[in-house]
Amino acid sequence: MAWWRDAVVYEIYVRAFQDSDGDGVGDLDGIRSRLPYLQALCVDAIWLTPFYPSPMRDGGYDVSDPCDVDPLFGDLDGFDRLVADAHRLGLKVIVDLVPNHTSDQHPWFQEALRNRAARRRYVFAETPNNWLSFRGGSAWTRVDEEAYLHLFAPEQPDLNWRDPEVNDAYDDVLRFWLDRGVDGFRIDVAHGLLKAEGLPDDEDVSALTQLVCDRYSHSWGQPEVCSVYRRWRAIADSFDGDRLLLGEVYAVHPADLVRYTESLDQVFNFFLLQTSFDTVLLRSAIDAALVVPNPTWTLSNHDLSRQASRLGGADRALALSAFLWALPGSVYVYQGEELGLYDTDVPRELAVDPFGRDRSRTPMLWDADGGFTTGTPFLPLGAGQSVAEQEGDAGSALEAYRALLRLRRELLSRLGREVTWRDTPPGVLAVAREGGLVAVLNTTSAAVPLPDGEVLWGDGGPVSTTWLLAP
Ligand code: GLC
Repeated sequence: MAWWRDAVVYEIYVRAFQDSDGDGVGDLDGIRSRLPYLQALCVDAIWLTPFYPSPMRDGGYDVSDPCDVDPLFGDLDGFDRLVADAHRLGLKVIVDLVPNHTSDQHPWFQEALRNRAARRRYVFAETPNNWLSFRGGSAWTRVDEEAYLHLFAPEQPDLNWRDPEVNDAYDDVLRFWLDRGVDGFRIDVAHGLLKAEGLPDDEDVSALTQLVCDRYSHSWGQPEVCSVYRRWRAIADSFDGDRLLLGEVYAVHPADLVRYTESLDQVFNFFLLQTSFDTVLLRSAIDAALVVPNPTWTLSNHDLSRQASRLGGADRALALSAFLWALPGSVYVYQGEELGLYDTDVPRELAVDPFGRDRSRTPMLWDADGGFTTGTPFLPLGAGQSVAEQEGDAGSALEAYRALLRLRRELLSRLGREVTWRDTPPGVLAVAREGGLVAVLNTTSAAVPLPDGEVLWGDGGPVSTTWLLAP
């Protein structure tokens, strides 16, 4: 069975994880020094957000060279050291691939600005259509008689995936990192690459800013995009091991995610990220996620509010995680989630993200002094208890997450993939997974007898989840 199927993947927002050289920005050597922490947390893989040369107008998702390391984060030798050490500790390494757009500093775009004949790799038009960018406002910026498309910031021109040279060049990007031993890719906005032929106007432009309304959009979720992934599947499969292709795809309907899994191993679903802490809504979000082959479970990432803030408490975040992690599928944990961290309000004058997402990107808290850097951190540290303060404290979030991940790993070999909902009173969810595991989430503060008489759960304590194991 492929290693990623039930794996726990830990998302490292590279800039904010561990600085090794005192410049206030996290880097690859810093990550390497923290691998034993991740191994002890019982994660199976790390996903590194972009560390490629970049003007950092979108936290590194504006790449000017996809086959190198930005000096801010280290160099290619440092990357090789990181992969070698991770593999030695039994950890897989997934890297981010950003194919929808480049930085405006990428040599291709610089050439396109100078020379109209060299614009085919991007999406240029004399008459822009009505599409909106993620930041709001037109998705087009005029340079002369023509304008170029950018679904994100103007510094992130969209590539033209109908151009063979673009396709060929990214084949080489995949091979470059696969040759260096990466175990897979997280594909950034994987539903965006191909735009509808002829670039027609959208009827409902407001929906575009949400990235999700693919059924009504001519820019997102075009079925042809899967032709790119068929190509990448063949490349990934030409390497040994099960190299993971994971798509970041926003879609309203689960059926719209399924088509990607014909070539990609899995896609994120964001149903739970758009759901409040309500058992009826949670259950339907879980059902939606289970429709998609090889489900993924994620409650936060570097783009969104931390779940302790979003769900209204670190206890709720832990309880929901414990519930989801009983289900079949891969678990994605965002750094700091295991500490029960909340969002941090970053004052406007210290903000760095143009899209306003700094609140969940403040540096990792390693010890009472921070421990992230000896210099000035690129973003202020957030409030919360550090790793060192929680370690060894049985009542801490960190020890609870560790214990849960350890137990999950131990149980996996006996668990199947079938799941069955049990009847429960309002405010309670219970799901049985083939192999004898029942997870019960009680969002009420009362003791709750389950109707089948099997379990009497809850003692009036805080929101929590319990795992019941058949002998
Ligand atoms: C993805 C990334 C996000 C970035 C955007 C554009 O959604 O997760 O951080 O801004 O793509 O690359």
